[in-house]
Amino acid sequence: MPPGAFRQRPASRAPLIGCESGTLKRRFGMSIPRRARVLTALDTLLLGCLVQTLVVRAGEVPGTLTSTNRYSLHQQHDRDGIGKFYMGREIAGVMGHEAAPWLERLERPQQEHPDELVSDLRLRPGEVVADIGAGTGFYTRRLAQAVGPSGKVFAEDIQPEMVLMLINSMNRLGMTNVTPVLGTTTDPRLPSATLDLALMVDVYHEFDFPYEMVQAICRSLKPGGRLVFVEFRAEDPNVPIKPLHKMSEAQVKREMSVQPLDWVETLRTLPWQHVMVFKKRAG
Ligand SMILES: C[S@@+](CC[C@H](N)C(=O)[O-])C[C@H]1O[C@@H](n2cnc3c(N)ncnc32)[C@H](O)[C@@H]1O
Repeated sequence: MPPGAFRQRPASRAPLIGCESGTLKRRFGMSIPRRARVLTALDTLLLGCLVQTLVVRAGEVPGTLTSTNRYSLHQQHDRDGIGKFYMGREIAGVMGHEAAPWLERLERPQQEHPDELVSDLRLRPGEVVADIGAGTGFYTRRLAQAVGPSGKVFAEDIQPEMVLMLINSMNRLGMTNVTPVLGTTTDPRLPSATLDLALMVDVYHEFDFPYEMVQAICRSLKPGGRLVFVEFRAEDPNVPIKPLHKMSEAQVKREMSVQPLDWVETLRTLPWQHVMVFKKRAG
């Protein structure tokens, strides 16, 4: 795929669940009743989302910008971002499920070396891991193989459509050690103190609530468990990805400095991404 193709990544589409950070119109892109007619199996889920959204947004006037101590909101911002900033970084829009084929493109293994990444993680059979923002499961299936039938992979995402695609793909492959999870933008809904490792590939920069998400992930890690960020290198202008969908090592470290994590190492063996490994502090 020519590098330019990455810049044509579809416009950010927000997920149906976890709609806290935008107006309903912007998030759904169509009127709610029509959307509700189109979807059938997901109706209950959507209704839950709608109720959650209304509860979360109560007290806010749609369309106005507010600031909190942790985040600031700006009218002027990058078109690939959501206008919300955390520690000087604008948060990128969520990649919509319509772009799922991009995650499964044939040239991806050549571009990202996913097998090398998973092998570098040195997972052991029987370990419990999470693929946060799993998308279609491109990395989930590799993790599932690495931990084997005695291990377990929680494959979590906030878009029900992505989770459905992942379930279908795991069923087709007969993978029985994967548990799909539908999370929210603040909570991946994973059991506490269970994970040996949580992996986020090309995901963290899209979190609407990065601080809250990492707090919740840390609660799910065992003491000494690893949290691994795989992000396109912002330091390298030759990596053909839009700026807001890249992250620098310094920025990730800055944002993790307020979390109960210690940086362990950064692997630079992949063509375009760096792999930043943090460990949950004991106690
Ligand atoms: C660029 S895709 C990457 C998918 C997958 N990790 C891969 O590399 O194939 C980003 C994914 O992160 C998910 N995502 C965004 N914000 C999230 C959040 N707060 N919690 C969980 N998943 C999130 C999106 O729904 C999307 O599926």
